Amino acid sequence: MVYNNCCRSVNRNFRCETQSNEFCGQTYWGVGVARRRSNPIESRSVVSAKKIMPDTSQKPRIALGADHAGFPVKESIKRYLLESGYPVEDVGTWSDESVDYPDYAKRVSQRVVGGEDRFGILVCGTGIGMTIAANKVGGVRAALAHDAATARMAREHNDANVLAIGGRLVNDAGAIEIVKDFLKTEFAGGRHQRRIDKISELDRDRAGNK
Ligand code: RB5
Repeated sequence: MVYNNCCRSVNRNFRCETQSNEFCGQTYWGVGVARRRSNPIESRSVVSAKKIMPDTSQKPRIALGADHAGFPVKESIKRYLLESGYPVEDVGTWSDESVDYPDYAKRVSQRVVGGEDRFGILVCGTGIGMTIAANKVGGVRAALAHDAATARMAREHNDANVLAIGGRLVNDAGAIEIVKDFLKTEFAGGRHQRRIDKISELDRDRAGNK
């Protein structure tokens, strides 16, 4: 299934909004099929609404961002999230034209820290630049995961609120496994909370030193 390019912001009810808040008219469930607009990407397909009926039960909202190197994997992650019923805010980029990853790390991080989205997912070539940039935003705990095990630990031990992935290092299926495990794992708390508190203290120190 192909989501069209105007689906940058998809609300809980899975209606597609353009950035100007106009609906493109596409819905992801209901009777019959949803038609797409007539740009080259959008016109590729007609969506069978029944097939992708989302589970809208209390899924956390996800901010999603990538640079040009992470763009293809970001699109696959977006498809997975939407099909699984997660509300998604896609902050770009939307093509493989060269861009700078800190711009997207900042957009996603600010949304997470501001409480607009529960988690952020960032994809660049290695995931390293996105991780470094995101962790400059106070309140962000960005973790780079290359597999499902590190993704689980990032949530369980580090209460990571942003996940970074190397789009040139994993394939689509690998990226989705990482995302799945990250989103299904709860923070363990206990002794780990004390350590998270110390990280928050570092954030406060840095804010105080400005
Ligand atoms: C872009 O070429 C690449 O440097 C970027 O995607 C990322 O891997 C940086 O960490």
